[in-house]
Amino acid sequence: MPAYDPIADWYAAQSRTGSLRRFLDNLARRLLCMAGDVSGKRVLDAGSGEGHVARLFARHGAQVVAADISPRLLEHARRLEARDPYGIDFVEADLASGLPSHQGAFDLAAANMVLDDCEDLVGVLGGIAGALKPNGRLLLSLNNPYAIVTRGKVDGYFASGPLTQTFGTDRSEYQVPFYYRTFEEWVAAFRQADFLLRSLVDVPPDPGDPHLPDDPIPKIMLVELLRPAA
Ligand SMILES: C[S@@+](CC[C@H](N)C(=O)[O-])C[C@H]1O[C@@H](n2cnc3c(N)ncnc32)[C@H](O)[C@@H]1O
Repeated sequence: MPAYDPIADWYAAQSRTGSLRRFLDNLARRLLCMAGDVSGKRVLDAGSGEGHVARLFARHGAQVVAADISPRLLEHARRLEARDPYGIDFVEADLASGLPSHQGAFDLAAANMVLDDCEDLVGVLGGIAGALKPNGRLLLSLNNPYAIVTRGKVDGYFASGPLTQTFGTDRSEYQVPFYYRTFEEWVAAFRQADFLLRSLVDVPPDPGDPHLPDDPIPKIMLVELLRPAA
C-alpha cells in the first residue's frame, strides 16, 4: 500500500486548513517564483498529494497534470477539483515507472517535498525526466541534508539511508518512510537521471511556522534541474 494512503485523510486536512498549510503554501509560492511565467505552459505536479502545487500553478494559467501514487490522496484532490475546477488532470502513477501516456509532454515539472520520500530516487527522477520536453525543467523542494544532521535526525553526515518521519501530535501520530541522502548522493542521482543542476536556493525561516524554524542551517532548499536537449 502506498505510504501516504493510511494517513491521507489527515494529511489532506492538514494541507488544506491545518498545520501544514502555511508551510506548503510558502513552498508552492517559491516554486512558482522559480518557475517564472507558467501561463500556457504544460506542467506536471509530480507527487501532487491533494494538489496544492497543481492548483496554484493552474491559477496562474498553467495546464496541469498531477500525478501521485496514493489513490486516497487523489480522491481528496479530485473531490476538490470537482468542487472548484481548474482543469487539472489527476493521474494515479508510480513516478518510478514513468508516465507512458505523457512522454516528452511537459515544459516544467515541480515536486514539492516528494523526493526525500522516494526509495528509488534515480527511478523517480528518470520517470519525471521522460515526461519532460527537451530543455524542460524540474523544480524540487527538499530537506537540506546538513539541517537533518544538525537537527539530530541521523547519527552523522555520512549515515545515509532510510529513516521514519513522524507527523501529527501525541494524540494522532503518523509515520511515513523518509530517505536521508548526502549532498554528494543527491547530485550523483541528478546526474544519473541526466539532469543538470541549474540553481539551488535556500528557503529562509518563516517566523510563526514551526515547520520552518530559525535554525543555524535552513531546513529546506529549492533545486532547479534542467533536462538538456540530447
Ligand atoms: C510529503 S507529500 C507531498 C505532497 C504534495 N507535493 C504537497 O505539496 O502537498 C509526498 C507525496 O509524494 C507521493 N509519492 C511518493 N512516492 C511517489 C512515487 N513513487 N510516485 C508518485 N508519487 C509518490 C506521496 O504519495 C505523497 O503524496
